[in-house]
Amino acid sequence: MLGVGSEAVLSHPVASGPSAGQGAGLRPPALSVMLAEIDRAVRAGGPVQPERIAQVLAAHLADPALLDGVLCPCDKSRYTRHLLGEGKGYCVLAIAWAPGQMSPVHAHKTWCAFGVHRGWLVESYFTADASGQASPVGCRPRGPADVGHASAGPEAIHRLANVGVADALSVHVYGAAYDRLGADVNHVFAA
Ligand SMILES: [Fe+2]
Repeated sequence: MLGVGSEAVLSHPVASGPSAGQGAGLRPPALSVMLAEIDRAVRAGGPVQPERIAQVLAAHLADPALLDGVLCPCDKSRYTRHLLGEGKGYCVLAIAWAPGQMSPVHAHKTWCAFGVHRGWLVESYFTADASGQASPVGCRPRGPADVGHASAGPEAIHRLANVGVADALSVHVYGAAYDRLGADVNHVFAA
């Protein structure tokens, strides 16, 4: 995700620390607690419940100390993913959005949950016809600690956009390894 039609920047701001569920490393305490709770929710047994992951995010995203000292800068040319942690079969990212940046219209090939930590985003929803052409059906604002989630599948089509005048920072959990994000996560639609 980035400007429409371009690829997101990937970075590893806390990659020197251990992976989620393995310890605190250099992470701020609040982030370590959230990552540990996400890891427990993912490994709870049975199919992963993305709604439960979203509930974990909602409990932490309003904490202003959540990402203390974790550098998640915007790139002025494209929205930017920053790896916060990862475990077996999933990863946790911060995504930094400068004003005007947005994701492509997409659905997810894996479960996902997300929420806003700082700033405001607009989430737009779409349907797609048989040719893959997407049409908007609604939207809603997403502010600090607002969360969303979706199971894998082509029917949950959305786009996130920073239409404001200030940078925004969101946190996303995907049921895929970080190095598989491009191939395993987004199904992009024409819009
Ligand atoms: Fe998405």
